[in-house]
Amino acid sequence: MFEILRKKQISPEGFLIRIKAPQVAQTARPGQFLILRVSETGERIPLTIVNWSRSRGYIDIAFQVVGKTTYLLSKLKEGDAIIDLIGPLGNPSKIERYGTVAFLAGGFGAAAVLPIARAMRKKGNRVLTVLGARSKNYLIFEKELKKTSDVLIITTDDGSKGIRGFVKDGLSEILNSEKIDIAYCIGPAVMMKFTSEETRKHSIPTIVSLNPIMVDGTGMCGSCRVEVGGKTYFACVDGPEFDAHLVNWDLLLSRLNYYKDEEKLAYESILKQR
Ligand SMILES: Cc1cc2nc3c(=O)[nH]c(=O)nc-3n(C[C@H](O)[C@H](O)[C@H](O)COP(=O)(O)OP(=O)(O)OC[C@H]3O[C@@H](n4cnc5c(N)ncnc54)[C@H](O)[C@@H]3O)c2cc1C
Ligand code: FES
Repeated sequence: MFEILRKKQISPEGFLIRIKAPQVAQTARPGQFLILRVSETGERIPLTIVNWSRSRGYIDIAFQVVGKTTYLLSKLKEGDAIIDLIGPLGNPSKIERYGTVAFLAGGFGAAAVLPIARAMRKKGNRVLTVLGARSKNYLIFEKELKKTSDVLIITTDDGSKGIRGFVKDGLSEILNSEKIDIAYCIGPAVMMKFTSEETRKHSIPTIVSLNPIMVDGTGMCGSCRVEVGGKTYFACVDGPEFDAHLVNWDLLLSRLNYYKDEEKLAYESILKQR
């Protein structure tokens, strides 16, 4: 059992949870994730490991309520336990001295960007971050990303804070005055698709962290199958990071919709029961 040590609401549907998980904290690295289950009959969902303390034996996750399992997770309180959790999973990010690294974070993509940006800064890179959300209440980790970035640009779809527009508009702003050596683009698949089309136009090598549906997280079930550069990979063991400019985005987007009707039914039914 993994005890919830702390819980904080960070956006209208977003939560940060600190979990006691000394073994996971021992080996967690930026770019990695875990898979958890909220109940014995529940599904397993992947979430990024945002932060950890090896000495205090905890890890932090941040998630947005979008369906049944994230809803049930959001209802757990401090002192409750998560019954099942496995991690760290996936390959860690390649933290090297690139020069100038741009982080393009959309919505809850900021949860995955934060540990990578921190590590890149520590390595001596210049860090430029664009943080985007639909409106100002949905911006997460703004304070933390400001601290870890040489430049932070905010974008909101409705113009309630920063530039009115999308992350790719923040990228255009940066490109007026900066040369980017590598970009990390993390967020909803559709945001990663369109933002990385922009970086391709400017010949900026770009890494994305893919978010297909996952079940086991160990390369056994095939549910996280993605196509990159014409080859099939399992995002849980071969990724989750890939070259953005080689990803078959249409396949990823269509696979994310496979269970849309069932997901909607499950969410509606759990809301009715509560
Ligand atoms: C490696 C990895 C790391 C992730 N890290 C985070 C994180 O740190 N924070 C966070 O909030 N989410 C993260 N996700 C997405 C998260 O796993 C899904 O939001 C979650 O599985 C939804 O479960 P659910 O039962 O609540 O909703 P579901 O009923 O499964 O889905 C409801 C709706 O959410 C969307 N959705 C479902 N699965 C995914 C998915 N894998 N990616 C994106 N959208 C999805 C779809 O629109 C779907 O219709 C990550 C995904 C991956 C693969
Ligand atoms: S989640 Fe099963 S193979 Fe990746």
